[in-house]
Amino acid sequence: MKNWIYLIFLLMPLCHASLSWLSIAHVTHLSKNMSQVQICDSLSGWTNIQKKFCREHFDFMDTIYQAAKITLSECESQFKSRRWNCSTSSNPNVFNRLPESGVREAAFVYALSSAALTYSITSACSEGKLAGCSCDETKKRPIRNGHLWSGCSDNIAYGMAVAESFLDPRLRKRANLLVVNLHNFETGRKVIEKNMNRQCKCHGVSGACEIKTCWRSMPSFSIIGTKLKEKYDAAVQVNVERKMNQKRVVARNRALASLSKNELVYVRNSPDFCRPIPRLATYGTRDRVCNKTSRGIDSCDLLCCGRPYVTQLEVVAYKCNCTFKWCCSVICKECKKIQEVTRCR
Ligand SMILES: *[C@@H]1O[C@H](CO)[C@@H](O)[C@H](O)[C@H]1NC(C)=O
Ligand SMILES: *[C@@H]1O[C@H](CO)[C@@H](O)[C@H](O)[C@H]1NC(C)=O
Ligand SMILES: *[C@@H]1O[C@H](CO)[C@@H](O)[C@H](O)[C@H]1NC(C)=O
Ligand SMILES: *[C@@H]1O[C@H](CO)[C@@H](O)[C@H](O)[C@H]1NC(C)=O
Repeated sequence: MKNWIYLIFLLMPLCHASLSWLSIAHVTHLSKNMSQVQICDSLSGWTNIQKKFCREHFDFMDTIYQAAKITLSECESQFKSRRWNCSTSSNPNVFNRLPESGVREAAFVYALSSAALTYSITSACSEGKLAGCSCDETKKRPIRNGHLWSGCSDNIAYGMAVAESFLDPRLRKRANLLVVNLHNFETGRKVIEKNMNRQCKCHGVSGACEIKTCWRSMPSFSIIGTKLKEKYDAAVQVNVERKMNQKRVVARNRALASLSKNELVYVRNSPDFCRPIPRLATYGTRDRVCNKTSRGIDSCDLLCCGRPYVTQLEVVAYKCNCTFKWCCSVICKECKKIQEVTRCR
């Protein structure tokens, strides 16, 4: 696939739901004497609605910052041995024009960011960090033979609702790409809901499980990242069609009867990511570390796109001599070793 084709579609103005709010993960300019309003107005890349959200719900900002951080770190970890390794740029549009490109990678980031927001808000809620919410009491009801929900389930409904109001622009006229992006936002929220676990604890004399309390909680975010990565691999290419005055996504392959909100959807095929495409904030695979003995996606042949690669000795830093410090952190030293490393040319 030729990169110039991407340049053409990137130049088309598109109305979209932005991922620029993720720039908060890179914010370093805040100083203690700034007022809340000054902080909100200084967030570059945020829409006016998001800045208003910041001013009205400032207590959420720490949580939204955490959500942006885990979006970027989980994305990097899921894609670390891929040609597109989730690189971000330092400008406010952390993914440059990738969000508007309609490619599969964009679909993944949309869903991941929406999942991260749902996740962080739900966690903050359970930990009592947000004034307006607490854990979910509606699940507090007796179930079979004395077991009961303890009433402190993670409040996923609240997390999903706030994430939706923060991310989804309420526009009446929806551009085609916006319909696609909103689908992926919803897929991201739903993946949290679908992967809630039931956890239980026994009570009773000498360990007899006479009464059991149960509650529902979220899995670790890396499990969510892995689920979304699987959906990325199985993502469905779609067209946007108008039906009864409403736009909706329709699988390009007509053999796929119905599309659900469990799937990631994308519009355009991805470039091969072998060479830099600055507008998508991708750097190509030059100098990337590859695995000479692997036959998978991290193999030198695939990662280097058939270009040559060189193996040389490099000094590699790693964590070592870790000690547990009371209480509760692990402190490590940085050690160095000399190791063979293979990199793409
Ligand atoms: C905040 O403090 C810094 C110095 O610490 C100062 O340069 C800056 O002007 C102050 N900003 C405001 C809005 O007061
Ligand atoms: C992604 O690849 C670029 C070079 O292609 C590299 O500079 C960057 O460190 C990589 N990012 C991660 C998270 O490995
Ligand atoms: C390279 O790939 C081989 C085979 O898949 C694997 O056993 C090995 O751990 C990999 N090495 C690194 C450094 O990831
Ligand atoms: C780590 O511990 C080992 C054994 O206790 C010691 O020989 C080594 O010097 C330590 N390394 C560092 C960097 O402290």
